[in-house]
Amino acid sequence: MSILVNPKNNTFHLQNDHISYIMTVYPNGQMAQLYCGKPIHDKEDFSYLLEGSLRSHSAYVENGGDSISLEHTKQEYAVYGSSDFREPAIEVRQENGSRLSDFVYKSYEILPGKPALPGLPATYVESGDEAETLVLHLADETADMELQLMYTLFAGAGILARSVRVINNGSSPVFLERVMSFCLDLPDADYDLVQLSGSWARERTPVSHHLVQGIHAVESLRGHSSHQNNPFLLLKRPLTDEFAGEAMGFSFVYSGNFLAQVQVDTYNMTRVMMGIHPNWFCWKLEEGEAFQAPETVMVFSDKGLNGVSQTYHKLYQNRLCRGVWRNRPRPILLNNWEATYFDFDEEKLLNIAAKAKECGVELFVLDDGWFGKRRNDYAGLGDWYPATELLPEGIAGLSRKVEALGLKFGLWIEPEMVNPDSDLYRAHPDWVLSIPDRYRSLSRHQCVLDYSRPEVVDHIHGMIAKILRESKISYIKWDMNRSITECWSHALPADRQGEVFHRYILGVYSLYDRLTCEFPEILFESCAGGGGRFDPGLLYYAPQTWTSDNTDAVERMKIQYGTSYVYPVSSMGSHVSAVPNHQMNRITPLKTRAEVAYFGTYGYELDLNRLTEEEQEEVKQYSEYMKQNRELLQFGTFYRLQSPFTHNEMSWMVVSEDKKEAIVGDYRILSEVNAGFTRIRLQGLDKDTCYEVEGLGRFYGDEMMNLGLVTSNGSTGKPGDDVTAARDFDSTVYRLRAVED
Ligand code: DGJ
Repeated sequence: MSILVNPKNNTFHLQNDHISYIMTVYPNGQMAQLYCGKPIHDKEDFSYLLEGSLRSHSAYVENGGDSISLEHTKQEYAVYGSSDFREPAIEVRQENGSRLSDFVYKSYEILPGKPALPGLPATYVESGDEAETLVLHLADETADMELQLMYTLFAGAGILARSVRVINNGSSPVFLERVMSFCLDLPDADYDLVQLSGSWARERTPVSHHLVQGIHAVESLRGHSSHQNNPFLLLKRPLTDEFAGEAMGFSFVYSGNFLAQVQVDTYNMTRVMMGIHPNWFCWKLEEGEAFQAPETVMVFSDKGLNGVSQTYHKLYQNRLCRGVWRNRPRPILLNNWEATYFDFDEEKLLNIAAKAKECGVELFVLDDGWFGKRRNDYAGLGDWYPATELLPEGIAGLSRKVEALGLKFGLWIEPEMVNPDSDLYRAHPDWVLSIPDRYRSLSRHQCVLDYSRPEVVDHIHGMIAKILRESKISYIKWDMNRSITECWSHALPADRQGEVFHRYILGVYSLYDRLTCEFPEILFESCAGGGGRFDPGLLYYAPQTWTSDNTDAVERMKIQYGTSYVYPVSSMGSHVSAVPNHQMNRITPLKTRAEVAYFGTYGYELDLNRLTEEEQEEVKQYSEYMKQNRELLQFGTFYRLQSPFTHNEMSWMVVSEDKKEAIVGDYRILSEVNAGFTRIRLQGLDKDTCYEVEGLGRFYGDEMMNLGLVTSNGSTGKPGDDVTAARDFDSTVYRLRAVED
């Protein structure tokens, strides 16, 4: 890994065995992008890649006798207003009303490792040799402003983390109206764009189209990263598939409003941008102040989409997630939400917990409804003290009793919200985001607390920390159940209202930071009505996320499949729930529900007392299987093999680092009568190793990777056929172990 600098022509080449990224300085002083892709040799001069020649009708900038049109160049951090007519990376409104910037190159530094980003989640290193960081210092002398572009190249992978810092050195304030974290101009547009889109209960569906001239934006303006669009984009060459070919991922380490955009111009140049959404964003930067934009992580791989995903999985698992739970297999939990909703008391909970213990569960989680007047979702949010009419000895007492059963205890909170019918709201009506004299929209009968105000965060911290100190709590599920509307803070002046969305998220991060530092042993799971805030920003604090409110096994195949484009198996909360399923009304076999949930953190979302004895015995086996295999399932190398979006049979697998063990999950959505023969070609095995496939026999790695594992369903539809072999929503999990041949 190295950052190569040619000081004669100010060319910077970030290069390792997986990626080359080359930039230089234009004659007018601005930074130019030259190349991003597979590693290439370094050389003295790459100036032939500067393609800014004038074409008729272009505007141009003159500098030292050279005229270039920025419109035809590949800019490194684009500005609008002086001959580039594409969307810019930065817009600064200055005292005279101008929005034009001209940041020219001044100097650079190379730092070992990677500096932290103050107040923001970001990838990190544990030693200086894991990464190297290039900081480019640019200045706009007219506006007296400095721009720092930061690039961290990680060793051993095609990962480039980027962020941006803007400093006002002038004597009057300026207003940042747009500060993108990432801008990349590519010389052609022969790419398919993949985004992860959907809605509540249908999160992160991969959607793809070929790039055409114009702008395609993926965004959230909901105050959270959202169910609708994940802060992620992928560009792949048209022939790239899951296993081979070039692809680039762009992932934004942020949990609030974002814009991820691709613009193709008339000459087929592609500009990729990612950052805080400029709509409703305007940051006042006083003299001497700096603004730090969040990080974007770009991954380049020539090993197809799985190559990109595996790079993200490893990075996010090991160098984004933190704390004692980072690499620990996750406890099998039972969450009472779908078992009881709001209808519970202590006796009922302990009854559910006792059966859970019998069935191999390790952690009992009490969901919504345990506090204040929260007997339904109309009241109580904000009043974080136990409802003693339900729990006579409070959370402290209940947690003691659950621990006495031999289980750990976990608790649900939704600390960013308040119901108008609550003591907190009655005491502090101005603590919610709302605009004076205007209608205040509700969602799920609740308002959003103004987390841009430190005193609000302090107050909530006080209530939550008290419970955590007084009770035996091993796990927290942190929920967030509505999007933000009427985003306005009663504590900020008019010229700072454009800061509220971002300050809100900074407030959320600060509370996460305080709680995770004070209670390092607690496992945090983030949640936003399911997967409405499944993003890298929150993984920094909470190493797992409730993937979706949709717990149906078939829908979960799709949701977990799409989520795996970026996020590791260890981060995906996945539970076995009751049938008929509460979201889909579908009845799936218990075995399939378990075998889908295996590829996640694994838990239960039902009252196991309501299962037959036979089913309870089955559940015990599934819990045991998970305990035996969770290290491999959650931390092995994950491969998507066949997509549920295009096939009736979907499959995925995990392989241990030493390639001696693997688990394959194979799922047939609808049974097919008299169907053709099927095989799944496995990935990631050692070609020369012989593996025992439980129940099937012995096969070599190359056999299973090239010829495949036979998964044909023998049902012909004749009477007497084995009906269990031909049911809908069926699944098989294969365990592979290396053996001496
Ligand atoms: C939404 C979550 O996704 C559910 O799992 C549950 O915790 C409810 N909120 C509780 O209100």
